Amino acid sequence: MAKVQISDLVLRDAHQSLEATRMTTADMLPICDKLDDIGYVSLEAWGGATFDACIRFLNEDPWERLRKLHAALPKTPIMMLLRGQNLLGYRHYADDVVDKFVEAAAKNGVGVFRIFDALNDPRNLKRAADAAKKTGKHVQMAISYATTPYHTKEKYAELAQAYADFGADSICIKDMAGLLKPFDAYDLVKAIKAKVDLPLQIHTHATTGMSVATLTKAAEAGAERIDTVISSMSMGTSHSPTETMVEIFKGTDMDTGLDIKKLLVIAAYFREVRKKYARFESSFLGADTRILVSQVPGGMLSNLESQLKEQGASDKIDDVLKEIPVVQKDCGYIPLVTPTSQIVGTQAVFNVLFGRYERLTAETRDLLTGKYGKTPAECNPELVKKALKESNMDAVITQRPADLIPNEFDKISEEAKKNGAGDNVEDILTYAMFPQVAPKFFKERPKGPVSSDSFVTPKAEAGSSKGGSYVVSVNGADYNVQAGPSGDSMSITVNGTAYNVGFKAASGAAPAAAAAPAASSGATIAAPVAGTLLKHMVADGSQVKTGDTIIMIESMKMELEVKATADGPVHFAVQPGAQISAGQTIATIGSGAPAAPVQAAPAQPAPAAQAAAPATAPSGGTAVNAPVAGTLLKQMVPAGSAVTVGQTIIMIESMKMELEIKATVAGTVNFLVAPGSQISAGQILAEIK
Ligand code: CO
Repeated sequence: MAKVQISDLVLRDAHQSLEATRMTTADMLPICDKLDDIGYVSLEAWGGATFDACIRFLNEDPWERLRKLHAALPKTPIMMLLRGQNLLGYRHYADDVVDKFVEAAAKNGVGVFRIFDALNDPRNLKRAADAAKKTGKHVQMAISYATTPYHTKEKYAELAQAYADFGADSICIKDMAGLLKPFDAYDLVKAIKAKVDLPLQIHTHATTGMSVATLTKAAEAGAERIDTVISSMSMGTSHSPTETMVEIFKGTDMDTGLDIKKLLVIAAYFREVRKKYARFESSFLGADTRILVSQVPGGMLSNLESQLKEQGASDKIDDVLKEIPVVQKDCGYIPLVTPTSQIVGTQAVFNVLFGRYERLTAETRDLLTGKYGKTPAECNPELVKKALKESNMDAVITQRPADLIPNEFDKISEEAKKNGAGDNVEDILTYAMFPQVAPKFFKERPKGPVSSDSFVTPKAEAGSSKGGSYVVSVNGADYNVQAGPSGDSMSITVNGTAYNVGFKAASGAAPAAAAAPAASSGATIAAPVAGTLLKHMVADGSQVKTGDTIIMIESMKMELEVKATADGPVHFAVQPGAQISAGQTIATIGSGAPAAPVQAAPAQPAPAAQAAAPATAPSGGTAVNAPVAGTLLKQMVPAGSAVTVGQTIIMIESMKMELEIKATVAGTVNFLVAPGSQISAGQILAEIK
């Protein structure tokens, strides 16, 4: 037993687990002097999700955040979470990018590199660890913790030994899902300590309700460092409360020496700040013990729920939770952490929707064929065979995956500059991590960061339109919404978060209940809410069908799609970039008299993924339908090409995974949906004649 040291995760994992990673730098800085004064061994503040959220949602430069925090925390090292060869992105990077990233992170303020790999394949960590050692900063190697028949405490101790041999300064057990049980933690710490003489840190989420006991037993067994979160941002899918742990150890050999009175001031600060993020708050805040069976990490469960909702299959959650351990076993007992949690989760969803392994995602195939590295145990050989065949490969890759990637920093650098990156290594790395999001961020960065005040639900406008039923479509998912009796606002739930939306009367809108769906004679498309028109999803004058997404709008920082309510040629009335008000006519379809505005259409259930695959396309060919909702990524052949049965013609993205759509008949392909479009389950994407 030794004095216990504490890392507080309030600036990273806490808001990532509880508030969809939305906390702004502006809400962190005012408390930094107090945080810096506590005597934490480190403060975790940077990682993949915070970086992503900065550029995707907050219009904040993540490097700038790092520099500001570093300046505001002169005494306390900033810890970052680094996914080995993946860095902060979702693929393996070449070694030169790994070196540049680690060097830049250290230069901008990272003091502790916590490095992990989802597969626990040491080869995936080696380069990042070497690069981090070179910076002279603290290098902590983290073991992704999973409870499977493969994972004995001896296996973990061997892994810790391998990491110690890399020159790690400390070891971490990273328990993403709150699976580590108190007495197992005791034995595990003892087993590792018997082999490795390095400080050992425990990261265990509170999700299952065991974390306080687990940290206590781990410390009793000799773990010197624990991860906690200030109480007002603790528990649920977050972590054990800092003050609680400080008091538990007080007066023992493990006494942290931290001052609870100072901690209470910080707790009070975040209690107020947290209120501003209520709309992002996870709906689940208690203890979720289902996870003890499913192993689903904090955050992944709500993700799965929203994905199933998008697919119109919310009732399948229990089936999916049962399927996850099956997929995990077949994939060599991989721990469930980004990105493997997403790969296993989505494959489990597909297994439930389409039959077990009827459809493998591209990522599942890559995992099975060794492209992510070596899985802890053997994968299901039959499944590997199927993946190899579908990937046109003869054998599984056995070398370090990054050995197959030639240096790429110069190439990325050129590409980044073409996409708006400044002439500095940080911008290039931002682009390298998130090439899809970075160009928009570079363009909008001068506008400055989003303020968290804008997250606070606006008050409903009094005395506006009548109530009724509406269908609101957000990122491809339809939501049935009800306006309250006063009719001035309504509550919609998106990905588990409730939003109050204020509505103004649409000019001349009929009461919702009385309106019939627009017929093919034509329709006027009105903006369902006020906001900005982002883009037209089809060309002006093109033929659209009921349900096609024709316009994207942004409202309250959310993207919403507007769908056609009739068949016919579409004519846009408002150009992209324009501000629009609720009820404003933004397009017309067909030549007939204006029909019911879109927001007056009767509510319909979200499409079920398995439902309705119309066999006949508009002009008599064979329809190619979307099996699930998502985004159309690209067309794999030129329009008008002759295709054969089984040929991949379209790639779509669904639940963050890529999926091919294959031709079911031979013929000439005609595409009906443009790349980049949101698609719903069952939608006709192409026809083959
Ligand atoms: Co965590």
